[in-house]
Amino acid sequence: MDVHIVVLAAGKGTRMKSARPKVLHPVAGKPIIHRVLAAARALRPRTVTLVVGHQASELKSALSGETGVTFVVQEPQLGTAHALLQAESALAGRRGTVLLLYGDVPMLTAVTLQTLLKTHVDARAAATVLTAIVPAPFGYGRIVRSGEQIARIVEERDATSAEREIQEINSGIYAFALEGLFDAVRSIAAENAQREYYLTDLVAVFLQRGQTVATMTVQRADEIRGINSRGELAEVSSIVRRRKNDELMAAGVTIEDPATTYVDDEVTIGADTTIHPGVSIEGATTIGERCEIHSGVRIVASTIGSGVVINNHCIIAEAAIADDAVVGPFAHLRSGADVRERARVGNFVELKKTVLGAGSKSMHLAYLGDATIGANVNVGAGTITCNYDGTAKNPTIIEDGAFIGSDSQLIAPVTIGKGAYVGSGTTVRENVPAGSLAVSAGKQRNIDGWVEGKKKRKTKN
Ligand code: UD1
Ligand code: CA
Repeated sequence: MDVHIVVLAAGKGTRMKSARPKVLHPVAGKPIIHRVLAAARALRPRTVTLVVGHQASELKSALSGETGVTFVVQEPQLGTAHALLQAESALAGRRGTVLLLYGDVPMLTAVTLQTLLKTHVDARAAATVLTAIVPAPFGYGRIVRSGEQIARIVEERDATSAEREIQEINSGIYAFALEGLFDAVRSIAAENAQREYYLTDLVAVFLQRGQTVATMTVQRADEIRGINSRGELAEVSSIVRRRKNDELMAAGVTIEDPATTYVDDEVTIGADTTIHPGVSIEGATTIGERCEIHSGVRIVASTIGSGVVINNHCIIAEAAIADDAVVGPFAHLRSGADVRERARVGNFVELKKTVLGAGSKSMHLAYLGDATIGANVNVGAGTITCNYDGTAKNPTIIEDGAFIGSDSQLIAPVTIGKGAYVGSGTTVRENVPAGSLAVSAGKQRNIDGWVEGKKKRKTKN
C-alpha cells in the first residue's frame, strides 16, 4: 500500500513569541520538524508534502537539505481542513493512504504510526483518528462516542460543559483513504466559534456518507504532545532527554543525576562510563566504555575513546580524544583537536586543529594551534604556538620525544626535531634540529646587594 505523508506546519506559532519559525526550535538538539520528518520517513512513504504558510520562505530554506519533500503554501491560513486541501495538487493521480501529521508534534514514534496505518487498513476505514486518554484534556478536541463508535469530534470552544468532561482527545493525527478524501474535505464549512475550516468535521461527513471512521488510542499519551509555547518546548525536551538517559542507563551507562544530564539523541556512550552531574553531550558525539565525565563538561560533535577521563569544566567541540587520555580540568578542545592515546591535557590548555601525540603532555596554560605534536612530547607551562602572522595560519611541527621548556613561543611555521629541547623562555624563530637545545634568552646578570640598596633608597625619599 502506498503511504503519503502530509505535514501541517502553516500555523503562526504566536505563543512562542519568536522570530524563528516554531517548528525549527530544537528539542534535545534536533529541530521539531526534523523529528516529525524522521518518524514519517521510517514508514517509507511514497510522498511527503509539507504545508507551510507563516514564515514559509524561512522554513523552505531551512529544510532545503531534505530530499523528497514537496512544499505547498497555505495562504491565508483558514484552518486545518483548508491546510490539508492545499496538498490536493501534490497528490493528484496518487492512490493509497494519507497519513496526516502536525509539524509541531515531535514525539510520535514510527511504531505508533505503523499501528495507526494497520488499524486503518484492517477497518477498511475512510478515516482513522489517533486518540489519547489524558487527565487534563483542556484545549484539545474531544472524541464524542455513541456507544463504541466515534460520532464526532468537538473542539474545546464549541463543546458543551458535559463534552468538556470527556478525557479522550483528538491527537490531530489521522490516516485517510486518499480516494474521495478531498471531495469530503471540500464539503466542510466554517461553522464554528473560530470561523475556521475544521478537519475534525470530516468524522461527521464520512459517517453521514455511510463510510467507516475508526479510532486508535495511543498507549503513551506523551507521544502526541504538541509544542505551542516555550513552556511546552521545555516540557517536551525534558521528556525526550529523560528517555535518552533511560536508554543509556539501560545499556550500562552510569548517570549520577539524570535531571541535570543533557544528552542529545544522536549521542552514543559505551558501558561503564560514568557521567557526573551537570554535563551536556551534544550533536553527533561518540563516547567509549569506562570513561569518566566530570561535572560542568560540555561535549559537542566529538569522538571520545574508551577509558578517557574528562575532568571538570572542559569544553570539547568537534574534537577527538583517544583511549586512556586525560583532559582537564578547564581545558578547551576546539575544532580539529586530536588528543591521542594516553596523552594528557591539563588546566587552561587550548587546542585547535592540533594533534597531541600518544603519551604527550601539555599540563598547564598553553595555546597549541595548527600543530602536529608527536609521541611522548612534553609541552611546558605557558607554551604558545604563534600560528597566526596577521594574514595566514602557519603550522608548527614538534617531533617525537621533544621537550618544550615553559614560557616558550614557537613562531610558526617552525619544526622542532626529534628529541630536541627548547629552553624555558625561548622564542623559537628557526627550526630546531633533532637532538639540539634551542635557547634565545640573553645571559643572566645578578646585581649584588641590590635589595638592601633599594630599601635604603626608599627611606631617603
Ligand atoms: C487541532 C484539532 C484538535 C486537536 C488538536 C491537537 C482541529 C480543528 N482541531 O486543534 O481537535 O485536539 O489539534 O493538537 O483540527 N495549521 C495549518 N494551517 C491552519 C491551521 C493550522 O497548517 O490554517 C497547522 C498548525 O501549524 C499546527 C496544526 O495545523 O501544526 C494544528 O493547528 P492548531 O491551530 O494548533 O490546532 P488546534 O487548535 O490545536
Ligand atoms: Ca495546537
